[in-house]
Amino acid sequence: MEFFVDSAEVELIKEVNEMGLVDGVTTNPTLIKKAGRDHEETIREISSFIDGPISVETLSEDAEGIIKEAEVFSKWGKNIVIKVVMNAEGMKAVKELSKRGIKTNVTLIFSALQAMIAAKAGATYVSPFVGRLDDIGHVGMEIISDIRDIFDNYSMSTKILVASIRSPQHISEAAIIGADVSTVPPAILKQLLKHPLTDKGIAAFLEDAKAWKQND
Ligand code: E4P
Repeated sequence: MEFFVDSAEVELIKEVNEMGLVDGVTTNPTLIKKAGRDHEETIREISSFIDGPISVETLSEDAEGIIKEAEVFSKWGKNIVIKVVMNAEGMKAVKELSKRGIKTNVTLIFSALQAMIAAKAGATYVSPFVGRLDDIGHVGMEIISDIRDIFDNYSMSTKILVASIRSPQHISEAAIIGADVSTVPPAILKQLLKHPLTDKGIAAFLEDAKAWKQND
């Protein structure tokens, strides 16, 4: 499974990237707002040190506007993926962008059928939001396994990019199902390295090493 970092905060992205945890980046208007910097400048800076795909979300509400934005955003970096919301205008745009060879990530997916429609339109990635489904009392992970089955049934090459991740548990469940990518907030990515028994083991080894070093 690939790990993307779900953030627009350059320093946090750098930190997890240096740990070897980052295969790509996803951003959205909320994350850009949180980072508090110019959109283009932020994406260009991320692209200067990340080689993998960087998702940049379009804001236009009609297909024509989305396509124009996509053409502009694509020039901001070497591996830009255009994020498009799941609706009729979005799907029109994805169809055209796919013809033009521009990679897309269809976002705000909350059902397996939406994912199938996006795949049929030619999306490179679909982003089902598991955490937001959990928030309203659904089991978000269920749509990941439904999407996996549907894509496998029809040999669809669109990648499942699990989004709105709230815990390491979401990531392990998504990996067991066979999702292609998890996009993860930096704090949760760092948690993946941790286990209380690892910390306990390190402390014990260091303590024991002290004893034999003293005898050297
Ligand atoms: C990423 O592509 C999504 O926009 C993001 O994971 C949404 O996460 P949230 O539900 O925590 O806002």
